[in-house]
Amino acid sequence: MADTAIHKGLAGVVADTTAISTVDAATDSLTYRGYPVQDLAETRTFEEVAHLIWTGDLPDREQLTAFTARERAGRALDRSTLDLLRRVPESAHPMDVLRTAISYLGADDPAEDRGADLATAERLMARLPSVVAADRRRRHGLDPIPPDPSLGFAENFFHMCFGEVPGPGVVRCFEASLVLYAEHGFNASTFAARVVTSTRSDAYSAVTAAIGALKGPLHGGANEAVMHMLNEIGTADRAEEWVDRALAGKRRIMGFGHRVYRNGDSRVPTMHRALVRMAEARGAGDLMELYAAVERAMADRKGLHPNLDYPAGPAYHLMGFDVPMFTPIFVMSRITGWTAHILEQQAANALIRPLSAYSGPPHRAVPAQRSQV
Ligand code: SDX
Repeated sequence: MADTAIHKGLAGVVADTTAISTVDAATDSLTYRGYPVQDLAETRTFEEVAHLIWTGDLPDREQLTAFTARERAGRALDRSTLDLLRRVPESAHPMDVLRTAISYLGADDPAEDRGADLATAERLMARLPSVVAADRRRRHGLDPIPPDPSLGFAENFFHMCFGEVPGPGVVRCFEASLVLYAEHGFNASTFAARVVTSTRSDAYSAVTAAIGALKGPLHGGANEAVMHMLNEIGTADRAEEWVDRALAGKRRIMGFGHRVYRNGDSRVPTMHRALVRMAEARGAGDLMELYAAVERAMADRKGLHPNLDYPAGPAYHLMGFDVPMFTPIFVMSRITGWTAHILEQQAANALIRPLSAYSGPPHRAVPAQRSQV
């Protein structure tokens, strides 16, 4: 018997089961395969967490050695992909470049019609940072820097972007953000990937759909919008008046609120600590005063808490990344969650096709005479 109630935005609707993560609104907590995300972010590398999300277990030494060898060997982009990146207009947003590159990599992958598998997931994880870094270099009029197989995933991204690796404290903050962004249940972009997979389409098409969904400012695009907002406000003393004016204009304050978490995003404390460490390392006291002032204004006026995008945006800024790279970095991490859900959907598939309640004109006959033109 169909459920005829309308659940706009599928809010509160349990669409399927998943064994990958638990986003628990009651306790405002998040676990990946049973492990609390804040503990993983403090103690594990992104490579270890990717293995966990995909396979269900943290890797032992042998598994980690084998996986990191495959990931490092799979980072380089071939000449035709680098040529494609050079031809995409620089006016295109880096998320559009990334979406285009994924489509191209899919068209170029003979396995594309085989359906999703772990090898494809690993190859996507390995190559995405190379695409994001090469795009960043060309926007600065620089040639791409080839990946360095002697470096870990997080360090190598800094190397390909800037030609150098920052101190371990900065790398650790970046790695924590990758762990925190990796997976989050049936969020909009993951659900988009599952919808595409449910038709038995291919993984590249599913990931392309997910990138399109994540780009939106109500979703992953918020981490960039947070930085634009902080830059627009400028100083802490202007925060309250700016927030009041924005709320009066019914604007959404980016980086605040969440569909599931109602008393605070479980990932924020860990990312906030990483942001504080970055601010101390960069002497960004003014930015942190502004950051705190906006947070206070939102708590006072709307009772809304920050989500992960609020601390992540300024942290990426302090790491030296251009603002339009923030959501592509989110993709570099969430490719693990997306592909884990693609594999899970594929393994126990049912076509995702909800119902709709009709609200158009009542049934009527087509007029006998065509209207005169
Ligand atoms: C991510 O789903 C996930 O898990 C996503 C994510 C992940 O890891 O995959 O966590 C990543 O996308 C985090 C969210 C990033 N987006 C933003 O920061 C954009 C700003 N946030 C809002 O747009 C909003 O909070 C949402 C979209 C995140 C959630 O919105 P809901 O659950 O659909 O709630 P709603 O839009 O119905 O808002 C309820 C009320 C409204 O007031 P009324 O119009 O009913 O009077 O709260 C208000 C909203 O206006 N509100 C806000 C607000 N968020 C909610 N008002 C101002 N600023 C905000 N940020």
